[in-house]
Amino acid sequence: MKIVFVSSEAAPYAKTGGLADVASALPKALAEAGHEVKVFLPLYRTIKERFPHLALRVAGRPEAFSVWEDREASVPVYFIEHDYFFNRGHLYCTAAGDDPENGDRFAFFSRSVLEALRAIDFSPEIIHTHDWQTAALFGYKKFVMGDDPFFRGTKSVFTIHNLAYQGLFDPGVLGRIGLPKRLFRAEDLEFFGRVNFLKAGILYADAVTTVSPRYAREIQTPEFGCGLDGLLRARRASIRGILNGVDDSMWNPADDAMIAAPFGPDDLAGKKKCKKALLEAFGFAPSVPELPVIGMVSRLVEQKGLDVLVDALDALSLLGIRIIIVGRGDPSIERQLIMALNRFPQNLGLRITYDDALARKVFAGSDFFLIPSRYEPCGLTQMYSQKYGAVPIVRAVGGLDDTVEEFRPETGEGTGFKFQDSDSGALVEAVRRALGAWKNPKWMSMLRRNGMRRDFSWKRSAGAYLGLYRELLG
Ligand code: ADP
Ligand code: GLC
Repeated sequence: MKIVFVSSEAAPYAKTGGLADVASALPKALAEAGHEVKVFLPLYRTIKERFPHLALRVAGRPEAFSVWEDREASVPVYFIEHDYFFNRGHLYCTAAGDDPENGDRFAFFSRSVLEALRAIDFSPEIIHTHDWQTAALFGYKKFVMGDDPFFRGTKSVFTIHNLAYQGLFDPGVLGRIGLPKRLFRAEDLEFFGRVNFLKAGILYADAVTTVSPRYAREIQTPEFGCGLDGLLRARRASIRGILNGVDDSMWNPADDAMIAAPFGPDDLAGKKKCKKALLEAFGFAPSVPELPVIGMVSRLVEQKGLDVLVDALDALSLLGIRIIIVGRGDPSIERQLIMALNRFPQNLGLRITYDDALARKVFAGSDFFLIPSRYEPCGLTQMYSQKYGAVPIVRAVGGLDDTVEEFRPETGEGTGFKFQDSDSGALVEAVRRALGAWKNPKWMSMLRRNGMRRDFSWKRSAGAYLGLYRELLG
């Protein structure tokens, strides 16, 4: 199959969250299964600076964009260059908030991908796009290029990685980006007086997927539906939940140059060294008896439930634990955490930063890994932490519920601890259960090994996507 992947981020080129990991790993898994895959990204300034070897593929199209190509990547990656829109120091937002031209920027990107496919003469069987940033593509395909024989055999898939980000813009955006103004009605893209880009993906793609089976069900309820649950229920038959995976070549403690020592399920000596290095990096002295370390690596946004953690700190500080947090995001959440650090310096370690190497040190050096999310479409860090022997403690929502199994000491099965309610009492109770296991070294090593041995490889998910593509192509 000829498959085109369109995303606003992909590792290692540009990353703000899990979407980048998925947009890099899934195309690789599809290519390994024998398909011809091409990935499209905007050429952001940071990519230009960090990847000087990119080759110009198509220069100065009439609409004034160029296409660059990474010929050294294992799966061909193409970049849409448009200096006005993408030669900026950010992907989506600055300290002042969202880039006010985001609607124009990402609509331009989406449309340019369709033009670029024609320019490089690659007529795909599948176009698969991700999140609101690339959803307008389906509007162009349906209403602007509807009769184009070049795309006649092309089926489309839209993946929702996060329903809360919908791409909402003033009605004037439709005229500016060249989509019919008549789409400004409730049956199409209108949403509470604004234009909703995400709706273009939900309404016009041939199939809609989301990144875990539980989230696929949750988004059809008012609690998790972000105002779109009615529409999603109407599209129920075309919605599928396909769990994300882990790229084992990128996330493997036995082969990770950024951690203090390698380790694996059958040899955990290296993990002890990683813990020691992590404690040192955060200025904690070694302690007798050894205290458990609970790690967190997260975007600091409301979704991730850090306020619930902050509420729980009074109780947690009495339990003889250390919590190490690496994260960046919403300034008000950053401030809450800095204040918490001042109150609980014995218990808390904090770095307000985005740092992949440091994140890996947290996965490798922690005993437990906490994710108290309000909602979680899939979540990757609970899978990475399992791979790195850090036992997850998670709120049982979305993909967290689908990928963490509650530990049952009677049978020795399970990989972590889950709590139901989004409140500090429930969180503390789950941490207490985890500490029960900490006191029993046999249980701890069972838990770690169960997690480290779990198969989260992309092969299975890639197979599910391929099954869906085939269904659409009949
Ligand atoms: P989301 O996409 O909602 O942020 P995921 O769990 O799917 O959540 O993916 C988050 C990804 O971003 C993981 O690869 C995680 O390691 C990485 N990450 C998040 N915050 C940081 C940070 N402060 N420093 C380094 N990596 C981070
Ligand atoms: C989003 C979600 C996260 C998911 C990621 C990749 O950022 O918040 O849960 O893992 O996309 O699909």
